[in-house]
Amino acid sequence: EEKETISVTFVSKDGEEIPIRVPIGMSMLAAAHENDIELEVSGACEGSLACSTCHVIVMDMEYYNKLEDPTDEENDMLDLAFGLTETSRLGCQIVASPELDGIRLAIPAATRNFAVDGYVPKPH
Ligand code: FES
Repeated sequence: EEKETISVTFVSKDGEEIPIRVPIGMSMLAAAHENDIELEVSGACEGSLACSTCHVIVMDMEYYNKLEDPTDEENDMLDLAFGLTETSRLGCQIVASPELDGIRLAIPAATRNFAVDGYVPKPH
C-alpha cells in the first residue's frame, strides 16, 4: 500500500528536531517553506539549481545512499555551499518518496554541535 506522506525530521541549528509530514513528490525545500521551518533553507533560486541556499545535510548514511546521485549541476552548486559534508545535498533536489520515510535533515550549522552519522568535512 502506497503512503501519501512520509515522515521527515528537520534538525535546526539549535538541535531542535522538527518532525513534519511531507507529501510524496514534494521537495524538501518546498516542505520546509510550507511548515515555516526557520532554516537556512531559503531557496533563493526556487529550486532552479542556481544557488546553494537550500543546502541540507542528510544525517544518516542509510538515507543518503537511497537518494538519486546528484547531477553535475547540483555538485557544482554544492561545491559553493558553506559547511559542505559528504552527505550534503540541495534540499530542492530531494523529493519525497516512500523509501525516504524517516529521513532526517540537518541544516549545515547543526553539524558543528552534533555528531552526525556520516559527517565528514569535504576537503576543497
Ligand atoms: Fe537554489 Fe536549491 S533553491 S539550488
